[in-house]
Amino acid sequence: MLKPLFLCAATAARFASALEFTIAGGQIYTPGLAILNSPQPGTPLGGHTIEVSLDVSTNGRLPLPPYPENSPSQLHNITIFLYSYETGRNFTISNGTESATIASLGDIMTSEPGSTVKHVKWTWPDCLVGDGQPSEIDSARGVYNISIRQSFRLNGEEHYTVFDVPISVTNRIEESFDRPSCDELDNDLLTPEEVRESADDLPAMFAPGDSTTLETSGGSDGLAPGASGQGLGSAAARGWGERLSWLSVAGIAAVMLL
Ligand SMILES: *[C@@H]1O[C@H](CO)[C@@H](O)[C@H](O)[C@H]1NC(C)=O
Ligand SMILES: *[C@@H]1O[C@H](CO)[C@@H](O)[C@H](O)[C@H]1NC(C)=O
Ligand SMILES: *[C@@H]1O[C@H](CO)[C@@H](O)[C@H](O)[C@H]1NC(C)=O
Ligand SMILES: *[C@@H]1O[C@H](CO)[C@@H](O)[C@H](O)[C@H]1NC(C)=O
Repeated sequence: MLKPLFLCAATAARFASALEFTIAGGQIYTPGLAILNSPQPGTPLGGHTIEVSLDVSTNGRLPLPPYPENSPSQLHNITIFLYSYETGRNFTISNGTESATIASLGDIMTSEPGSTVKHVKWTWPDCLVGDGQPSEIDSARGVYNISIRQSFRLNGEEHYTVFDVPISVTNRIEESFDRPSCDELDNDLLTPEEVRESADDLPAMFAPGDSTTLETSGGSDGLAPGASGQGLGSAAARGWGERLSWLSVAGIAAVMLL
């Protein structure tokens, strides 16, 4: 089991609830069809932009859009927000709508046509400028979640899931003329309960050893040949705990408890 990468004593308390991640081969598996390549949970970030790298082809199992209308599995859209209950901010990285400014990004699925990996590059907004830990009480810098929201159809069933990846905005972010204003990107914060109610509760899927099958229009593309016919239902019914221990035993996934 990996030790938390960045949490100091002060922030550790804020992640009181255990956040579990299924990581194999450096990729973070999500409750959906997309797989996160980077950033890793717990990474301190800064620079000119934040870059979120997502494989939207379930590592080559799902074709790229446009999908045939009746395709049993499709990734309709991905929206991404950067929010923090610590700072009270909830910025739009992409809400799927092309905005007039370049402050928030447009449809992720249609960006970088032909590429199964989407590199979502978003210019840090002005209130995150600084270096190191937040120094003032009302600073917008500090711990955040990258909230990755997927609308998708899996084997004929529609889903909407929320996947939060903790990061910290503590590396150097320099002032620059092209930084959007935080206020223009800010949204209301919902309570964790409200967020949970709006989304489906699914486990991380498609990690090595996971038997969730993925039916595409070309037929069923099961991960494990012997496991065909096992849909999400049976995979979910097996229980997350059991899947976790299976993954650890097999030594192919690192489960990080923050
Ligand atoms: C990040 O997300 C987790 C789980 O959704 C939540 O418990 C935690 O409070 C969030 N962290 C921040 C800094 O908002
Ligand atoms: C995402 O897809 C869902 C399901 O098709 C749809 O209801 C929703 O409006 C879409 N959102 C965006 C931002 O396109
Ligand atoms: C998407 O974000 C932009 C910029 O923040 C905003 O103008 C627009 O109303 C948002 N659209 C939706 C559907 O939330
Ligand atoms: C952040 O704002 C978006 C857009 O309004 C919303 O869908 C999302 O649930 C919000 N996140 C939180 C944690 O409140």
